[in-house]
Amino acid sequence: MPFWLLNQVFSQVLQRPACGYPTPIVPVQFLGISARQVTSDASFRSASFSDTEHPRVLITGGLGQLGVGLAKLLRKRFGKDNVILSDIRKPSDHVFYSGPFIYSDILDYKNLREIVVNNRITWLIHYSALLSAVGEANVSLARAVNITGLHNVLDIATEHNLRLFVPSTIGAFGPSSPRNPAPDLCIQRPRTIYGVSKVHAELIGEYYHYRYGLDFRCLRYPGIISADTQPGGGTTDYAVQIFHDAIKSGKFQCYLKPDTRLPMMYIDDCLRATLEIMEASSDSLPMRTYNINAMSFTPEELAQEVVKHLPEFQVTYNVDAVRQAIADSWPMNFDDSNARKDWGWKHYYDLPELVTVMFSFHTSESRAAHA
Ligand SMILES: NC(=O)c1ccc[n+]([C@@H]2O[C@H](COP(=O)([O-])OP(=O)(O)OC[C@H]3O[C@@H](n4cnc5c(N)ncnc54)[C@H](O)[C@@H]3O)[C@@H](O)[C@H]2O)c1
Repeated sequence: MPFWLLNQVFSQVLQRPACGYPTPIVPVQFLGISARQVTSDASFRSASFSDTEHPRVLITGGLGQLGVGLAKLLRKRFGKDNVILSDIRKPSDHVFYSGPFIYSDILDYKNLREIVVNNRITWLIHYSALLSAVGEANVSLARAVNITGLHNVLDIATEHNLRLFVPSTIGAFGPSSPRNPAPDLCIQRPRTIYGVSKVHAELIGEYYHYRYGLDFRCLRYPGIISADTQPGGGTTDYAVQIFHDAIKSGKFQCYLKPDTRLPMMYIDDCLRATLEIMEASSDSLPMRTYNINAMSFTPEELAQEVVKHLPEFQVTYNVDAVRQAIADSWPMNFDDSNARKDWGWKHYYDLPELVTVMFSFHTSESRAAHA
């Protein structure tokens, strides 16, 4: 392409409104370059996902709190062999024998590219990350995994024409953001490496969408509560641990103050939202990063609900300064009206249903363990 035409193309891109979310007008094929200067190749495109066949999905960081459940949901829909879980950790027998699993370190660009090519991947769900509390304890590793790793994923997704999902978080907001509720578009000045890396992911993902035509999709998850998987070191983990401790000992010591209000969601709603946004038609997504919400509660309100199931339950508070500071800088509530309007998002679990489902899971687990 002659230099003058390239210039014209760039100026068209740059002149587009900052928050109008137009559809990309300059596909990567036209520019003939990708982010790592890999020449665009028609054979990549011919191998891409067509709407008439099942996607072939790779989940990175799949052995954390969310990946195994998502693999189960996607395998039910697309077939067991069309969904590959990957991680740098060793899977349990149960995970290993329930469907394809592969080692993948997202910091190893060539290895990741090989997996995508050899398995003809068409959707990439990028779950690898160091979460808020763990990230603060190891900033350089969090920077590497959450930022450098994401760059690898973005380039490979662009090069191979993948549909890419990257989750963001309530942690992408900060003390200067509106907190009750936080809208989709507002000031984002988080003060954790986790939050900074997630704002970066939102922005660079959208940039690749407009600049290279990457099919980038992102949901800001609230704190996720799951029954059968352990959280990975986030600030909202107390809302999972409380059920384990309540059933085991009837007591729980909370590291957040009783009135710390945060947005939360049951895992089934979160995984279904992820599948729904991945299946949504591009036309129904005028934005590429959406808040999703279900409920919002404090430790005190959660404990009151737990007492309805376990009247002798007692909660004490021993505040952890680092996690409290993180929670105090996060939204108390999420405005997810755009997700509801654009692609029909709705949650099924509010606080009473959440507590009932968590109790019935843990009670039957505990009965089975003592049988
Ligand atoms: N769980 C939540 O409440 C929550 C809320 C908001 C957003 N999210 C986002 O959802 C995603 C999944 O969350 P989760 O709770 O399952 O996280 P998790 O911490 O439980 O799991 C993350 C996984 O990433 C893996 N990982 C770390 N370094 C890696 C590397 N170099 N290469 C490949 N994998 C690596 C870990 O081994 C781990 O299994 C994350 O991106 C997180 O930011 C989660």
